[in-house]
Amino acid sequence: MKVRVRVPATSANLGPGFDVSGLALTIYNEFIFELIEEGIDITGCPEQFCNEDNMTYQAFRMAAKRCGLEYTGVRIDCQGDVPYTRGLGSSSTCIVAGIVGAYAFMDRCEERKEILNLATMIEGHPDNVAPAIYGGMTVSVMEEEEVVTLSIPIKHDYRFVALIPPFTLSTEKSRSILPTEISRKDAIKNVSHLALLVASLINGFDEGLKTGFKDHLHQPYRGHLIENYFDIMAELKNDNDVLGAYLSGAGPTIMAVIRAEDKMGVVRIKERLGTLIEGWEVRKLELDMRGYTADYE
Ligand code: HSE
Repeated sequence: MKVRVRVPATSANLGPGFDVSGLALTIYNEFIFELIEEGIDITGCPEQFCNEDNMTYQAFRMAAKRCGLEYTGVRIDCQGDVPYTRGLGSSSTCIVAGIVGAYAFMDRCEERKEILNLATMIEGHPDNVAPAIYGGMTVSVMEEEEVVTLSIPIKHDYRFVALIPPFTLSTEKSRSILPTEISRKDAIKNVSHLALLVASLINGFDEGLKTGFKDHLHQPYRGHLIENYFDIMAELKNDNDVLGAYLSGAGPTIMAVIRAEDKMGVVRIKERLGTLIEGWEVRKLELDMRGYTADYE
């Protein structure tokens, strides 16, 4: 028997919701798990990841222990479309898939709350893994060992234009340059912007989004690690039909939010940004509303 697990890409932070909010997107990584007689056999990813340190395997191993799965060997094939180290949650897809793969062999892959707790423990923060598990947009709070996650019902239909640079930026580096303390003024700004963002999305108040996506906790610092970041953000701010823009996760991808009816949005954004995004990939994505899926073959 094989288990096929599909996990959506995710975009975390959404501006002011650092380590708190995130949303799932319509690009996916897919993993096939098969129990074998002995050893580990990992295929489909670059050779340096085809070993015991593989993130999916490590998550599988921990989850197997947690859910009581006894196995002597496992084969994992990894395929997918989620760009690696670009701020679109590729590592979360690996962690979530590894856990779901193990739980599926015990027929427990719908235990999403338990899977969320374990995935958060492995990842260190819940903002990517929560939407990868539940789909849609989520906000999460860590209360000791428990993660409290709620889905945000978004009133309007938006599209997410991902501006994906050709260069990578590791989360480790992107976190290491952040200040350990911020001023009360900046803290108040972030709290108010996140509250405005969530309330605007629920109420369909598009006018609140540009301000709601503003951040004073990580983007002003991380922007210096990304070529043309400040110019790109300024151009997007001047586009009246771009509802808001933010750094996706730890970067370097920049996300612009437009209305579904704004059919020429991608073309307009590409033209407006011109050489600022030369060599960048531009993808128009929708919200994934399902989170991971698991099927038996
Ligand atoms: N909240 C995380 C960060 C997301 O911004 O560092 C990336 O793992």
